[in-house]
Amino acid sequence: MNKKDAKAQGAATETAPKKQTILSGMQPTGSLHIGNLEGALRNWVRLQEEYWMYCCIVDLHALTAEFDDTRAFKEKIFQMAVDYLAAGLDPDKCAVFVQSEVKEHAELHLIFSMLISVPTLSRLPTYQEKKESLDSYGFLGYPVLQAADICLYNAHKVPVGKDQEKHIWLANDLAKRFNSTYRKVFVEPEALFTDIPLILGSDNRKMSKSYGNHIPLEATEKETEKILKKYYTDPDKVYQGDPGNPDICPVYLMHRVYTPSAAETVAPPCRTGELGCVDCKKTLTKNLNGALQPIRDRRVELLKRPDYIWEVLETGRDRAQQRAQNVMEKVRAAMKMNYRKKK
Ligand code: TRP
Ligand code: SF4
Repeated sequence: MNKKDAKAQGAATETAPKKQTILSGMQPTGSLHIGNLEGALRNWVRLQEEYWMYCCIVDLHALTAEFDDTRAFKEKIFQMAVDYLAAGLDPDKCAVFVQSEVKEHAELHLIFSMLISVPTLSRLPTYQEKKESLDSYGFLGYPVLQAADICLYNAHKVPVGKDQEKHIWLANDLAKRFNSTYRKVFVEPEALFTDIPLILGSDNRKMSKSYGNHIPLEATEKETEKILKKYYTDPDKVYQGDPGNPDICPVYLMHRVYTPSAAETVAPPCRTGELGCVDCKKTLTKNLNGALQPIRDRRVELLKRPDYIWEVLETGRDRAQQRAQNVMEKVRAAMKMNYRKKK
């Protein structure tokens, strides 16, 4: 999208109230895995057809944990943008951009930080969990910055996992507080919890890069096969003939996503012991590799055009900035902090 189109879209956003806005955010963790794909990305790809989408790579949030190790940020952002596009995010429908490139995030964060008490923030479970290792002023404000991300675009909906419930509630609360303290500027955002087909990691925990139990989108067919071979299964099913329980097996969970009619073709023979884990994993390897192939092909193509990726992030930034500046002008006007002579 060129700059002129970006401007038109920014304006259209304001004049077409029927089309709602979605803001999604993800920390720049580098290339993505199938948990990200099935838990978030596929949903975003669907949502971009119906909503104005803003897809924010939140590098400032990543600073809270990695303030002394920022060297890899640029490469991680690049890889993530590649995976977004490979998974089907369309830069004409969804502004993909980097948070710190739109300075208004920092500005609104500061204003919002006045509207919330320190005890409220320090009671949040996400803070409690990590306060021993992360006790910075910035980390305490993490959810305030997240609220700024969301409200800066007047997003109606925020697609997130359940673990983010309190953060979205807080964004909603801050929007309300601002509106009642000054005047109505913000939409009160709501979480869009998705019916996530849960994918678990090779050790049966949540799939996460930091656990090293993930299947990267960029893995080759062979690498995928290798990871699956080591995957956790029902520990009571030791030999092929042993009956198994698919309901506690992460391999079966993936079958439910990648194998049509898994409930008929995988679960019953697993239960009777007719199906062994080795064969079961072979089928899954084939189906998973089949499903990932188009994404992997697009990845390879996109990696040949690094300039294009950076351009997508630039036009995304322009579009985001347009909207953000528009909202911030309203914020300053509501606060009587627009120190300009009247037009
Ligand atoms: N806190 C979110 C997470 O850990 C990331 C995030 C930052 C986010 N800003 C956001 C998510 C805005 C949704 C909307 O996953
Ligand atoms: Fe899991 Fe398949 Fe083994 Fe059953 S047969 S325990 S579903 S890997």
